Amino acid sequence: MIIGMPVWVEGPCAIVRAFIKKYRDKMRSEVYFVCTHMGKNDYMSKIKAMDSLLGRASSGQFSVRTKQNDYIKESAGIAATIMSGM
Ligand SMILES: Cc1cc2nc3c(=O)[nH]c(=O)nc-3n(C[C@H](O)[C@H](O)[C@H](O)COP(=O)(O)O)c2cc1C
Repeated sequence: MIIGMPVWVEGPCAIVRAFIKKYRDKMRSEVYFVCTHMGKNDYMSKIKAMDSLLGRASSGQFSVRTKQNDYIKESAGIAATIMSGM
């Protein structure tokens, strides 16, 4: 399962955080977090911290900058993250 969300106000948005907390017991064993953001900060530590909402370790995390980025490189990074979890 891949859960995508934007960064709002310096962290993964509250709506998706609430979704994870509410439905974590119904989610598949492999859960990946993909977070989009505009700024330079990759927010990886905050994305990884969502494991505490999930109640277990997520299988992979990825951060995508939506402005001034290299889409091919970012897409390849997501694919590599997912493949490494398999
Ligand atoms: C209310 C709000 C707060 C945001 N806060 C941040 C932020 O703190 N850092 C950041 O990098 N991007 C921030 N963004 C940008 C979003 O992460 C970005 O719009 C989203 O990832 C989707 O990308 P796109 O607008 O290029 O489609 C914010 C956007 C909104 C609407």
